[in-house]
Amino acid sequence: MNFILTKDQALQIAEKFGTPAYVLDEKTLRQTIRRYVNAFRSAYSHSEVTFASKANSTAGVVKIAYQEGCKIDVASEGELRVAILAGVPAEDCHLHGNNKSADVLRFALKSGIGQIIVDHFGEIDLLANLVPLGNTKILLRLAPGVDPITHAKISTGQADTKFGFNIVDGSARLAVQKCLELGLPLYGFHCHVGSQLLDPSAQVSGGQTISSFAEEMKKEFAFEASILNIGGGLGVSYTSKDVPMEVEEYCQKVVEAVTSEWSDKNYKPELVQEPGRSLCAGAGVTLYQIGAIKSVPAYSGRKAYVAVDGGLSDNPRPALYGSRYTVLPIESNAKSSITLGSVLDGSGNSRTATISGSHCETDRLFEDVELPSSLAVGDYLQVLYTGAYNSSMASNYNRFLRPPTILIRESGQYVLLQSRETYEALFAREAIPSDL
Ligand SMILES: Cc1ncc(COP(=O)(O)O)c(C=O)c1O
Repeated sequence: MNFILTKDQALQIAEKFGTPAYVLDEKTLRQTIRRYVNAFRSAYSHSEVTFASKANSTAGVVKIAYQEGCKIDVASEGELRVAILAGVPAEDCHLHGNNKSADVLRFALKSGIGQIIVDHFGEIDLLANLVPLGNTKILLRLAPGVDPITHAKISTGQADTKFGFNIVDGSARLAVQKCLELGLPLYGFHCHVGSQLLDPSAQVSGGQTISSFAEEMKKEFAFEASILNIGGGLGVSYTSKDVPMEVEEYCQKVVEAVTSEWSDKNYKPELVQEPGRSLCAGAGVTLYQIGAIKSVPAYSGRKAYVAVDGGLSDNPRPALYGSRYTVLPIESNAKSSITLGSVLDGSGNSRTATISGSHCETDRLFEDVELPSSLAVGDYLQVLYTGAYNSSMASNYNRFLRPPTILIRESGQYVLLQSRETYEALFAREAIPSDL
């Protein structure tokens, strides 16, 4: 399920809000979240979907995810504050982080955070000194020693990771023992093996591993985990080469893997998944306007560059991990004479171009994109599946203003979820000492 702007919508949005702009479709967003929640519930009735707000922490998106039945996973005080701003009670938020400060923990506890996913021994000590913890539940993040088939920079479950307590070297067992000795409100375990998983085998073995670890802890400490969180990670179709499993089948497989490890068939802990990308990526596109088209000498003939009015600052993923996306052209009404065909020798209805952003570094967004020869300066491009890890990863590199997020309501109306950043806001932090 994913959203694509029509030409009319694109032109109206460009005129009203300018470009670059993130556009989210409310209907697609709600349907995608609902489908995941229902798929997991059908596979296992005592289930909960937590939206990993790092994927898109726009307050309006967090609010929609909550309205659709998700709890909210936050990985910083900022993300927790956004959830609270969106009207989500802190008790429905789960706090992550491999290096939470005492201040962040204090803020979360004062707000009444529902769960803290503890990452290391120092954090156990910190929490022990911050009692009373009120109704906050503690889960231990485990490193299950599973190496997923995904990009190295989004793999988190392998043994060599900064996240969580390693099971194999005995750290996880010691962490359980320590929490129990200190009387901390330990409720269960968490793991997240990686992201953009197209093959669920890593998630399946991550789930099996924490499940069998829970069994061992029951035998050794008579501690029965009442919550098992198996993380997020389901991939999306950034290009036609990315074919993720249908969410219904995925949930079924993951639930079978986790439950197969249980010796007591009456054991029914709460199972939690915390997807981010698969809930919101497909509901979003980024709309850019083309400002320059040129050609340069190449190995054979000439090669074209199409430059858009954003890039690295609104979507760092191509530079970070060589991510590929599907890019679609939208013709404007005012045609320039500079077209893709005109800068390249030869003819043909479509030509291949590199799409570059407007930043320094090389800022090559997408290579070898097939586009119509008639594509002209002033036309638009929409990049699909940018509803996740785009606005939340945006920066001000080269002092670019972060783009707005426009929500297309189910009624068809366009509303702002985030306005375009202003230069006043951008420079508000500057301080020039008077004697400088
Ligand atoms: C702990 C944790 N949970 C959930 C997620 C969400 O992953 P995804 O967006 O791939 O579903 C991440 C992503 O990094 C994560 O680190």
